[in-house]
Amino acid sequence: MHKKTNTIIILVISISVIYAIIRYHIFNGVPLSYIIDVLNKGIALAAILLIALSLSIGPLARRFPKKFGRIEIGKRLFGLWGFTLSFFHTLISLLILKPNHYKIFYSFLKMNVLGEFVLISGFISLLLIGLAFITSFPHLFPFSQKSFRLTQFAGYIGCVVAGLHVFPIGVNQWTQISSWPGNMVPITFISFFAVIITVILRTQSSLMPLFQKEKS
Ligand code: HEM
Repeated sequence: MHKKTNTIIILVISISVIYAIIRYHIFNGVPLSYIIDVLNKGIALAAILLIALSLSIGPLARRFPKKFGRIEIGKRLFGLWGFTLSFFHTLISLLILKPNHYKIFYSFLKMNVLGEFVLISGFISLLLIGLAFITSFPHLFPFSQKSFRLTQFAGYIGCVVAGLHVFPIGVNQWTQISSWPGNMVPITFISFFAVIITVILRTQSSLMPLFQKEKS
């Protein structure tokens, strides 16, 4: 197994979880009894970052082969870990999704539009990323090249939907910088930003051959 890939995965997971603990437990004074909720945020952040990295590493390696070429080999493993973590995030979220934990998702003890949007977008995202996950095991599930490409594209759309999933949860906080615990950027903002960067890199990379053709 590639050593650099493992180091990156371990770093992304540890930094994401430690970030959530410092932001919520240390600077926001959230009691330790809410540790599962806080870990869930760290796991969700690591999931979206690894999925975004898995989708961005190809375009980055093509642009900066010296810097990113050597870690392109980790693309598949970044995606597999991203999906596994998003699966755990889903399980934990479904277990703790109750009005006393997530007041903003409920009105009069009934799930409101925001809660429904977060739930549905989460399911769609997990499903699409899961499709890409399944075809990443060609020995177990032999797919044609075309189906493989299609499911990989589904994974990309799943990542975009994950960006939509976090948007309404955090957008109100993004501009209220003075309310950020310990001046630490909201996890929803980091996640959304990672998805935007991924979309820009992939769009540029797919448009590049068109411009090259025009030039020649
Ligand atoms: C059925 C599937 C899913 C459900 C039910 C779900 C549920 C939730 C809930 C309830 C929150 C709010 C957490 C909080 O504020 O503490 C949340 C936040 C989040 N979710 Fe999901 N989610 C799902 C799928 C996903 C997937 C597939 C990803 C990533 C690929 C993802 C990434 C995130 C991120 C990054 C956050 C922001 C964490 C934060 O609140 O700071 N979710 N999700």
